[in-house]
Amino acid sequence: MRPSRDIGLALLHAGVVLCQVRRLAISIDSTDIKSGTPLDGFVSYSIEFASFPDFAGNKSSPNTFSDNLLNNIGYLQGDKPYIRVGGNTQDFAIYNANLTVALNGTVNVTRSPDYPTTIDIGPSFFESYSTWPNVKFSHGFNMGGNNDPRVQDTLTQTAELACMALGTDKLYVWEYGNEPDLFATNAQWPVRPSNWNESDYVNEWLDGTAVIKSVIQKNCPDLASINAYKYMAPSLAGVANHLKAPLAWADGLDNTQNIEYFSSHNYISGANTPGVTLQGTLMNHTRTRLSVEAHVDEYNTINPGAGVSHIMGETNSLYNQGRPGLSNSFGAALWGIDFALYCAALSIRRVHMHMGTNYRYASWQPVETTRATRGTKAPYYGNIAVAAFLGNLRIAPRPNRPPPPDRQRHRGRLCCRSPTAATASTGVQLFRRRGTTTARIQRLYANGSDAITGITWDGWSYNYELDEGRPVRLANVTVGETVQVTNGTLNITVPDSQAVLVTLGGMDETLNRPSGPARRGRSRNRGI
Ligand SMILES: *[C@@H]1O[C@H](CO)[C@@H](O)[C@H](O)[C@H]1NC(C)=O
Ligand SMILES: *[C@@H]1O[C@H](CO)[C@@H](O)[C@H](O)[C@H]1NC(C)=O
Ligand SMILES: *[C@@H]1O[C@H](CO)[C@@H](O)[C@H](O)[C@H]1NC(C)=O
Ligand SMILES: *[C@@H]1O[C@H](CO)[C@@H](O)[C@H](O)[C@H]1NC(C)=O
Ligand SMILES: *[C@@H]1O[C@H](CO)[C@@H](O)[C@H](O)[C@H]1NC(C)=O
Ligand SMILES: *[C@@H]1O[C@H](CO)[C@@H](O)[C@H](O)[C@H]1NC(C)=O
Ligand SMILES: *[C@@H]1O[C@H](CO)[C@@H](O)[C@H](O)[C@H]1NC(C)=O
Ligand SMILES: *[C@@H]1O[C@H](CO)[C@@H](O)[C@H](O)[C@H]1NC(C)=O
Ligand SMILES: *[C@@H]1O[C@H](CO)[C@@H](O)[C@H](O)[C@H]1NC(C)=O
Ligand SMILES: *[C@@H]1O[C@H](CO)[C@@H](O)[C@H](O)[C@H]1NC(C)=O
Repeated sequence: MRPSRDIGLALLHAGVVLCQVRRLAISIDSTDIKSGTPLDGFVSYSIEFASFPDFAGNKSSPNTFSDNLLNNIGYLQGDKPYIRVGGNTQDFAIYNANLTVALNGTVNVTRSPDYPTTIDIGPSFFESYSTWPNVKFSHGFNMGGNNDPRVQDTLTQTAELACMALGTDKLYVWEYGNEPDLFATNAQWPVRPSNWNESDYVNEWLDGTAVIKSVIQKNCPDLASINAYKYMAPSLAGVANHLKAPLAWADGLDNTQNIEYFSSHNYISGANTPGVTLQGTLMNHTRTRLSVEAHVDEYNTINPGAGVSHIMGETNSLYNQGRPGLSNSFGAALWGIDFALYCAALSIRRVHMHMGTNYRYASWQPVETTRATRGTKAPYYGNIAVAAFLGNLRIAPRPNRPPPPDRQRHRGRLCCRSPTAATASTGVQLFRRRGTTTARIQRLYANGSDAITGITWDGWSYNYELDEGRPVRLANVTVGETVQVTNGTLNITVPDSQAVLVTLGGMDETLNRPSGPARRGRSRNRGI
């Protein structure tokens, strides 16, 4: 068991495009509260396999910009993000021992303009697992095979290299195959016959993972124990595709009981789907709610048991790498907050935001390319806000000191209630909290939901051009706001397109300190 944490109140406010202030009284009581128990490292990332060398660099040239951004999240939530290395390109990667570069990818624009679909990786690919201190990874093995006969050799070769590169310090789980529910139906690169079904998938998965295990037993025996040898699976693209997770489970996917995370993938819609808009699609809580709940229903149908945590192993706004002007905007950052906190409230216990080099929805662009400027992007600020909201997830409730009565009610719970209407609020009625007289206000600010620059969290910028992603406090943003709580009610002004974190209680500890990322706040009962 990893420590979980109690969170009192969440009120997410995703507004509309311009800063028009309206009055809205929002009353929240304990019946509105949904409970969740986020894992450590709740805000995590999934990095496209072929982009991993760009994001992480290598031993002689580590990507410290990425590491700075991971540290910022780590300071807020107590652990650096977990990194899943995978995605579509994991199922294209073929090992080539003679390759002198980390990865040699060939782009076929018919298949995708955004990532290579023919890929060789060399021994130095695995150096990228050594560049970020205190980060745990999952390595995604190639199951799809790309119709390449070298895939079986690749599995044994990469299992050895990955286990040696990762070891017990850096590995958290393995993954075998990305989105196998699309293997038979992908229009551009079908890699299985159309009658390939759940039973076939399970047989292949059990065979492949047995091969991986035998390689690990031989080369990395300390990773072969029952506690160390674990997977995330089945990593399906959706709940209604060619393979269904409940059938795969019924067919024995977890027969060897080595699945630690039931991993779902989710996108709210597609980059090229007609009718997609910022306000109607991403900044639409109903849409987000339905999207998340479908996965919760699937997990509950399977009911894999308490030992198998539900996570979003890969997720972001719009599939096909996002749409410019939407997925890279502040509105997408607000969507990311709504989405992640709703997941947390429904006990999807960790959320890996997916990204790759040049991807429109990426939280940051790790390197300079002809298609995108290196830099911190709007969605990252949403990730920061989520980490700030959850606070230090390593701090478990103290067993010997019962909390004061008004906190006890919310102990061990995480609540997330978003108003169904996307409008601004000025009055928030809180459930009564004796002894709470002051609340601290922190804002995620930008000039409108369509902004792609100029975003700050509580006055902090994490932009590359300021200090390579390290936090920089800007002088021109208001910080240190507090409001009085009177008879369970507090009034705050929230312009549309802003997220606000309200921290109740524990004020002595947090109010007098700089709210910078080095803070390891103990305060609980936060709302956003
Ligand atoms: C690697 O190079 C050696 C020596 O030139 C050669 O025998 C071998 O076939 C090459 N392997 C691959 C995978 O290209
Ligand atoms: C390490 O990264 C640098 C910068 O991208 C690159 O020039 C170098 O070739 C890489 N080294 C290896 C062994 O891949
Ligand atoms: C990369 O792959 C392309 C296409 O297969 C090939 O022409 C090129 O020589 C390869 N480059 C390296 C460094 O192996
Ligand atoms: C690119 O992909 C398309 C679709 O899979 C395929 O028909 C075509 O042969 C590929 N082109 C090359 C040069 O491999
Ligand atoms: C998959 O197909 C095989 C052979 O056609 C059949 O025996 C099996 O029951 C099918 N499995 C599922 C889950 O439909
Ligand atoms: C929000 O999403 C729901 C569910 O997809 C949809 O019915 C509704 O029309 C959307 N609202 C707007 C304003 O587009
Ligand atoms: C904020 O956005 C509005 C509307 O797009 C624009 O007119 C204004 O100049 C922007 N202000 C700043 C400070 O960027
Ligand atoms: C605040 O300061 C930053 C950094 O100096 C600057 O880039 C930004 O434009 C300023 N914002 C406003 C609204 O003046
Ligand atoms: C909050 O604002 C409302 C409406 O303006 C007002 O009636 C109420 O007294 C205010 N409450 C507090 C605690 O200031
Ligand atoms: C405080 O709130 C309670 C319950 O809503 C109400 O009955 C009471 O009159 C309020 N007291 C004051 C001083 O506003």
